[in-house]
Amino acid sequence: MEFEGRVALITGGANGIGEGVARRLAGLGARVLVADVDAVRGQAVADDIGGAFVSCDVRDPRQSEAAVAEAVRAFGGLDIVVLNAGIATGFGLGDDFDPERYRSVMGINLDGVVYGVHAALPELKKRGGHIIATASMAGLMAMPLDPLYGANKAAVVALVRALGPVLAADGVTVNAVCPSFADTAIISGFKSFLESSGMPVLTVDEVVDAYLAVLRTGGTGECWYVQAGRPSEPFKFPNPPGPRTGSGARVTPHDPSQEG
Ligand SMILES: NC(=O)c1ccc[n+]([C@@H]2O[C@H](COP(=O)([O-])OP(=O)(O)OC[C@H]3O[C@@H](n4cnc5c(N)ncnc54)[C@H](O)[C@@H]3O)[C@@H](O)[C@H]2O)c1
Repeated sequence: MEFEGRVALITGGANGIGEGVARRLAGLGARVLVADVDAVRGQAVADDIGGAFVSCDVRDPRQSEAAVAEAVRAFGGLDIVVLNAGIATGFGLGDDFDPERYRSVMGINLDGVVYGVHAALPELKKRGGHIIATASMAGLMAMPLDPLYGANKAAVVALVRALGPVLAADGVTVNAVCPSFADTAIISGFKSFLESSGMPVLTVDEVVDAYLAVLRTGGTGECWYVQAGRPSEPFKFPNPPGPRTGSGARVTPHDPSQEG
């Protein structure tokens, strides 16, 4: 895939993984719109890479629509959407549970992806395009450290898997990147714990490589893991017991290659 002249919208593009993707795509010739609640960092990144910045809180569907409109206004269309804005939860379901913060976390990590897809689709369908959602290893495995984070990331995984075949007819691919722990602000509270436990922490660059691999491979409905010490590839999901016909025969999934 050639990136020269492609238009990319990246939510959560002001810091961490989103910033890394923004810098890499801009370096390959893409025109990048950074969308974030962090206007200071977002504008600085945009200025640095010759892109543009739009203030966007992904919890609000109208702000996702405004971000897409800004990409079209500034750069004439839209080809790549990276729905990456996300936060760690910071509380569980015990005494520390806080319904208001819960809605906010789900609003960023799940609704932000749903609203982003919905807002981008009309533009992406015009000339074909690519959506990548940042899920997490926490969406593929149990995450006792942060169960609510696991819940919203697993929802993003399920959404992407289901949308892949639905959007193929429109020339739109939709995939997820599922990183393990990576060296960004989101792990600052427990980075030293990870290191002392011997848990490898990915560099942002290693994670960004996976987004490029997804775009270059051109598949859809895939969830690519990013794990230290091994190349990224689509996760093969375990074979579920159903659905089955009345006679007990298994109904073939859309893409059997995705199942292990
Ligand atoms: N770093 C990791 O270990 C790791 C692992 C797996 C998945 N992820 C996921 O990667 C994505 C990026 O996180 P990161 O690690 O780069 O963290 P980060 O904190 O460096 O970046 C997150 C970005 O999202 C922005 N953001 C937060 N709330 C927002 C909102 N309401 N609207 C728009 N933007 C908002 C922040 O301002 C920030 O720029 C997240 O979805 C995160 O869940 C991170």
